Amino acid sequence: METKNEIKEQEEFIEKVKKINSNKNLKYTIITMGCQLNENDSEKICGMVEEMGYTKTNEQQNADLTIFNTCCVRENAEDKLFGKLGELKRQKEQKGLLIAIGGCKKKKKHITDKIKESYPFVDIIFGTHTLHKFPEDLYKSIQEKRKIEDVLDIDGKIYEGLPIKREDKIKASVTIMNGCNNFCSYCIVPYVRGRERSRNPKDILEEIKELANQGYKEITLLGQNVNSYLRVENEKNIPYEKYEGIDSFAKLLEAVNKIHGVERIRFVSPHPKDFTDDVIDGIANSEKICKLIHLPLQSGSTKVLKEMNRKYTKEQYLELVDKMKSRIPNLSLSTDIIVGFPGETKEDFEDTLDVVKKVKFEQVYMFIYSRRKGTLADKMQNQIPEEIKHERFDKLKALVESQIEENNKKYIGTIQKILVEGTSKNNPNMLSGRTNSNKVVIFEGQKELIGNSIDLKIVSEHMWYLKGEIL
Ligand code: SAH
Ligand code: SF4
Ligand code: F3S
Repeated sequence: METKNEIKEQEEFIEKVKKINSNKNLKYTIITMGCQLNENDSEKICGMVEEMGYTKTNEQQNADLTIFNTCCVRENAEDKLFGKLGELKRQKEQKGLLIAIGGCKKKKKHITDKIKESYPFVDIIFGTHTLHKFPEDLYKSIQEKRKIEDVLDIDGKIYEGLPIKREDKIKASVTIMNGCNNFCSYCIVPYVRGRERSRNPKDILEEIKELANQGYKEITLLGQNVNSYLRVENEKNIPYEKYEGIDSFAKLLEAVNKIHGVERIRFVSPHPKDFTDDVIDGIANSEKICKLIHLPLQSGSTKVLKEMNRKYTKEQYLELVDKMKSRIPNLSLSTDIIVGFPGETKEDFEDTLDVVKKVKFEQVYMFIYSRRKGTLADKMQNQIPEEIKHERFDKLKALVESQIEENNKKYIGTIQKILVEGTSKNNPNMLSGRTNSNKVVIFEGQKELIGNSIDLKIVSEHMWYLKGEIL
């Protein structure tokens, strides 16, 4: 109830800003960094901003308002923000561009302080827990012509009913839980996104039903620990609105699976320690749940995994993979790996390579360990020198690329069901879509096919995409 009233209040601010902006033909740009959760948040920011009378432009010089939705998971994400901010200083001085920075950050001794010190021309700093208050922040910034700082280091509540402007018309992502309770020792996310909180099953299902009615075909369920949906609520007896007996991730998947019109279901990111049998069986028994599962490994060394606080060993990870592969026909896996975690020896790294060789991932997202202030790993003494980190990264990359090439060859000559997503980014004369295993396939075809699922014959592979032909 309380959150509903807060949203009502914001609707009033939306109206006020809209009034101020009327007949001004104002434009905005938004720059999103980080993961799919941030992309989903950006769609909500765009929803609010467009209701306040701004239209989106891709030309920065035409913008009256620029919003950054930041990520701080690795240092290079932060560097990207500061680089871009520097570029905008002139536009701010000459044209009075309004600059707002949202996204993942802490209130003190973090990006927030650095922005205030080094980029004092920024108008609004807001966070993920205050995203819903952006209309009020913007109103105050315009009306009172003062700097607004609205970042909270709290656990945040769940706000339903924010306007949303989705980027795509075929694929949509739906955040089902916020925050993370895992505290992997390298990771800043639990500090900036707060504790795990799940949305009510009813709100999620209503959102997905509405998306299906609008013609969306593919739904991705999002959460930093997506397969522990409702776990904290159940364990700690935190009340939630009961709906159709849904009390777990497996049951939620089952309910989404029944929604008419949804053709494909994906989810990111599950944690291996929470990958329960009911979820495995649910995937096996569902035609709609895609058979590419993201299963973040992080390291193949049991010792490093312990230091990372991942709560599984190399052997447990491999056993889980074997179990999943034996129960789910045609399963492929993708993963995240960090190289150069403090104390990682040559042997530890060899263990990571060993798991990669054994599992043969469809896709591997590789990261060089990046120290994050406030995390346990940052305080560890045995940090790995940069050149060794890079050496290991290159070695892993070479292995992964050779495996991807090998794996791609298996597709040649096969018939694959493709959900056609649009024209190819690099070649507007070609169409682009994805296989069930999330591989990009480009092919020649009529634009009317966009949004449909069609069978294609795969004719060639090109590392990051395949080429297909209509049968
Ligand atoms: N909750 C998800 C994703 C977290 S962030 C999960 O647990 O898998 C996405 C990825 O960034 C992580 O999986 C991890 O591989 C990487 N990452 C997180 N913190 C990092 C750090 N400090 N340095 C390098 N990579 C990091
Ligand atoms: Fe970070 Fe670990 Fe939580 Fe993922 S599960 S967000 S890596 S703390
Ligand atoms: Fe980055 Fe925040 Fe996602 S720190 S990875 S955008 S949750």
